[in-house]
Amino acid sequence: MSIKIQTLAGYIHEYQKSVLQPDQFWARVAESFHWHKPWTEVVRWNFTEPSVEWFVDGKLNITENMLDRYLYTKGGQTAIIYEPNDPAESAISLTYRELYERVNEFANAMKAEGVTKGDRVIIYMPMTPEAAIAMMACARIGAVHSVVFAGFSANALADRIIDCEAKMVLTADENFRGAKVVPVKAVVDEALERCPSVEKVIVLQRSGGPVTMQEGRDLWWHEAIAGQDTECPATVMDAEDMLFILYTSGSTGKPKGVVHTCGGYMVYTKFTFENVFQYKAGDIYWCTADVGWITGHSYIVYGPLLAGATTLMFEGVPTYPDAGRFWDIVDKHQVNQFYTAPTAIRALQAYGTEPLEGKDLSSLKVLGTVGEPINEEAWHWYHDHIGKGRCPIVDTWWQTETGGIMMSPIAGIIPTKPAYATLPLPGIQPVIVDHEGNELTGNSVEGNLCIKFPWPSMIRTTYGDHERCRQTYFSQFPGMYFTGDGVKRDEDGYYRILGRVDDVINVSGHRMGTAEVENAINEHPKVIESAVVGYPHDIKGQGIYAFVIANMEGRTEENLEQEIRTTVTNIIGPIARPDKIQLVPGLPKTRSGKIMRRILRKISEGITDDFGDTSTLLDPEVVAQIIAGRK
Ligand code: PRX
Repeated sequence: MSIKIQTLAGYIHEYQKSVLQPDQFWARVAESFHWHKPWTEVVRWNFTEPSVEWFVDGKLNITENMLDRYLYTKGGQTAIIYEPNDPAESAISLTYRELYERVNEFANAMKAEGVTKGDRVIIYMPMTPEAAIAMMACARIGAVHSVVFAGFSANALADRIIDCEAKMVLTADENFRGAKVVPVKAVVDEALERCPSVEKVIVLQRSGGPVTMQEGRDLWWHEAIAGQDTECPATVMDAEDMLFILYTSGSTGKPKGVVHTCGGYMVYTKFTFENVFQYKAGDIYWCTADVGWITGHSYIVYGPLLAGATTLMFEGVPTYPDAGRFWDIVDKHQVNQFYTAPTAIRALQAYGTEPLEGKDLSSLKVLGTVGEPINEEAWHWYHDHIGKGRCPIVDTWWQTETGGIMMSPIAGIIPTKPAYATLPLPGIQPVIVDHEGNELTGNSVEGNLCIKFPWPSMIRTTYGDHERCRQTYFSQFPGMYFTGDGVKRDEDGYYRILGRVDDVINVSGHRMGTAEVENAINEHPKVIESAVVGYPHDIKGQGIYAFVIANMEGRTEENLEQEIRTTVTNIIGPIARPDKIQLVPGLPKTRSGKIMRRILRKISEGITDDFGDTSTLLDPEVVAQIIAGRK
């Protein structure tokens, strides 16, 4: 019997138990899964190395808990509803039995192409059911998937393939995104020019558009599965065997591969999915994320399917063919739980309520948000116009590294407050610390958000570089996991996330390192140096503002800016393209050569004085020059 929270008193009771007796608490949750062999110890950990193991010695396969488990009880129930990009194309439903068969068949196809336990497989695909099938097929045979968002450039894709030495890439011919058609197979071809580890590429025929197939390396998905058995024995995995790697940006260097393992991730994603959204059998649940991000992993694929839910996958974008598309889909499929990002809410809010006219949203019971702080105005719009004042909003705070939701109202049970993630879920022990690492106790405090006790789906390492994991998350405040977020605990003990306190920016819910964008800008031959900051943006939450020193010889400002944007698009992808580029004569540096970013941040926000202590600036003149040329 899993733990289902149904009342506020129940939440308080379970929360206390999870803190006082974490072993008993998590054992109770984990007992509701199918294990080949039970664990001998619930958790073994230290945050120094760090080393975290959950359900030690336990053996399982996550897909048996998603598919085999429901084969006889829910075989005919819809597991996945697929809503294509083009509304004229019919939606497709897959039952649990069909999904079981398609996952097994594809797992056999991958095996036939030489994939075995522990091999890394890159998934660079459109939001079609095959993306989810690919993830589960990997998990079925113990291969480690690494999904790369299909909007990343060939260069960014190649970096990820090289870092994890992937053996196989799964992709499609083309990807439909609104009115655009993105030639994803061509992007893979370009990336693979510098990826010798890749032996095979399996290509889903989505558009039927032209592609070049390389003999001996590339094969079609439909050919790969032809004649494959629809039964594939699940590989028995250790609870701590790797399930997947997901690359994410940090404040320094290239994106790092966050590693999640089988047992803890399985237990935590199902537990949080069922409780936060209060999913009930028969409900239709829709999360609008892409499987390229952690939200897609945990709350489109793993959490919902572990819970035997019906999960909707949408291939397109919120504004295609018009700004009513989300609401058309809610109406058409009678969606009960709807989970999206604040940036999408703000973008749709800008169209007013006209796109809502004639759309039946009465099926909605719970609304969710994720990915960035939600401003109060957007919260109210969502609450009033989408939820018609009757649906609780679950503002879920979590991260790629946390694997699952950490703080959130439990729908209908924990009273909400606009822009607050409210309270920690059972098992999560947040602490607020000041810059020296002193814990700030009591209410009405603000500081750095850390977690002081492990939870089952937390990051285990950064792939191939454990020291980087230690350094990034466990060194600044010893003995704790540091989230990188600032937080406030208000007078009621409710938590409000204030945003990143490091050099990570959040653009439309996408996480980006300022250093990563700077490195891309610096690749342009005319660029001498650059500094990137995030600035408040009405729709995106944060926009990218780049201050660039360049050699202007043979260039106008306009064409150089254009070229820089193209460079960034080529190196990372369109999501990292700067919104504003200002060509500057110099950057505000200290005598020791460090850029004073807080000055640039203020200038980008339109603040032109009150820079605090600037006595260590090497050349104060430069600040006035930058202000004068502000965009
Ligand atoms: O700053 C926080 C913000 O997104 C960061 C994590 O980004 P990522 O790993 O890409 O995962 C996003 C989806 C889980 C966090 O450090 N963030 C996420 N959710 C919220 C949030 N900020 C405020 N409120 C949230 N609900």
